[in-house]
Amino acid sequence: MTDSEQEHRDHRAQRALSFGTQAASYEINRPPYPPAAVRWGLRVAPGADAAGMRVLDLGAGTGKLTRALVALGADVVAVEPDPQMLAELRRGLPGVESHAGRAEAIPLPDASVDAVAVGQALQWFDTDRAMPQIARVLRPGGVLTGLWNADDHTVDWVAGLARIEGRAVQRLRETFAGDDAVELPGFPHSDGRLFDNAHRRTAESLTSTMATRSAVAVLPDAERAARLAEIRAYLVSVPQTARGEFDMPLVTMVHRWWRE
Ligand SMILES: C[S@@+](CC[C@H](N)C(=O)[O-])C[C@H]1O[C@@H](n2cnc3c(N)ncnc32)[C@H](O)[C@@H]1O
Repeated sequence: MTDSEQEHRDHRAQRALSFGTQAASYEINRPPYPPAAVRWGLRVAPGADAAGMRVLDLGAGTGKLTRALVALGADVVAVEPDPQMLAELRRGLPGVESHAGRAEAIPLPDASVDAVAVGQALQWFDTDRAMPQIARVLRPGGVLTGLWNADDHTVDWVAGLARIEGRAVQRLRETFAGDDAVELPGFPHSDGRLFDNAHRRTAESLTSTMATRSAVAVLPDAERAARLAEIRAYLVSVPQTARGEFDMPLVTMVHRWWRE
């Protein structure tokens, strides 16, 4: 491995582990997942609930997706490696079974869940080691679903914010093709879909949301403060976000993978 590959790996590992430093703020400031998106990810019929389904929320964080799964009636088991995130989940959802653990060594028996749901975390897993683990804990016919809340960059002021964040502008509503399957080893079938989502924010609270993102959370203190000041200054300069509450336009991207 070259020095720059090693550096890239180290930076990814640092980002994957950055969330705990923000655990309380993460729970307050990150957007929820739309019920329709979660239902679709689980392959539950529109309008139906997930009662009777045992669902593993893997990389559960503070429990944002866990809450949506519980609301659909699923019997949820949450697994999360970061002690601070897990503590926040246990504080907010004391009735949910939870375990310390990671995708590469899931602390559950073989064929013990009907679905594995992953919110905003699949990209942090070591695919070669995690996929056999996910396949192992799923019952035959079970589904793996990954959900991501993404800023809607087709809205101009949101694209402007992405530029300040230093993110590539991705116009998902125009470019996403659900049948552009994202291949994962061991799962021959997959599809994907976008769902509308929005997050009620103010300039202040959206700045706090930005602070929970891994790319910002890992910056050195002075650089992070400067980036957040720049984000806040932008938000108070844009008519749509300058005063009071507004809806931050989001899209929730859902992928699902299964074997027959
Ligand atoms: C962006 S947070 C998402 C949390 C939660 N799923 C949600 O939707 O809000 C990513 C989570 O993945 C966890 N994570 C990172 N690497 C992981 C791994 N290898 N296995 C399981 N979870 C991991 C982090 O600790 C963090 O809680």
